[in-house]
Amino acid sequence: MSKNLFIAIEGTDGSGKSTQAAMLAQRLTEEGHKVHLTFEPTNGHIGKLLRSILKGEISIDQKAIAGLFLADRLDHLLNTQDGILKKMEEGYTVISDRYYFSSYAYHSVYMDMDWVIACNEMCAQILRPHLNIFVDVPPEVCMQRINDNRETPELYETSDILRKVRANYFTAFEKLTNREEVRIIDGNKAIDAVSDNIWHSFSELLSL
Ligand code: TYD
Repeated sequence: MSKNLFIAIEGTDGSGKSTQAAMLAQRLTEEGHKVHLTFEPTNGHIGKLLRSILKGEISIDQKAIAGLFLADRLDHLLNTQDGILKKMEEGYTVISDRYYFSSYAYHSVYMDMDWVIACNEMCAQILRPHLNIFVDVPPEVCMQRINDNRETPELYETSDILRKVRANYFTAFEKLTNREEVRIIDGNKAIDAVSDNIWHSFSELLSL
């Protein structure tokens, strides 16, 4: 592979996107590429604060939460230890489990989507994903998986919110259709079939 790329993997909670991000990273590594797999919320200071908020340990206003996710994302991009830009400069293909489309989908449940998009404009200017992959799974299936896997659901893990989040993803894809490369993958199939379809989208991008 000659280009090093930045790929964002998106989906609702319980969609299996983290598994798919790891499978894509492994497949690329096996093919001999330098891959950096990362995620949001990050493991940095702001990301840790966000994890406490998601677990319900701290309660703050949804607009402040949206602001913290933006701050976490800027740190994710710009921090000089293992930030995404640094990794890209070092020649890595970077796969991020969630990026700004997560903010568009989740925070717009509570506020105007255009505001969330405008707030994240600086991130888009710094680094726009070469590809956003959305792993699409019906919210009821996601909710069932969450209930099977977690003792206490996190902040946004209710059927009602996941339904709104999924709809918001599609609204955001439509709004930004001229600016963003998006591929929607049916995530309600066997894990390997989903992974193959993601690989196919990725290979198409490489051949451009
Ligand atoms: P998730 O990928 O589900 O993490 P984990 O699998 O470790 O629980 O993401 C955590 C939550 O953060 C998820 O509910 C979506 C939410 N989120 C936002 O609300 N806004 C954002 O900008 C991002 C990146 C995530």
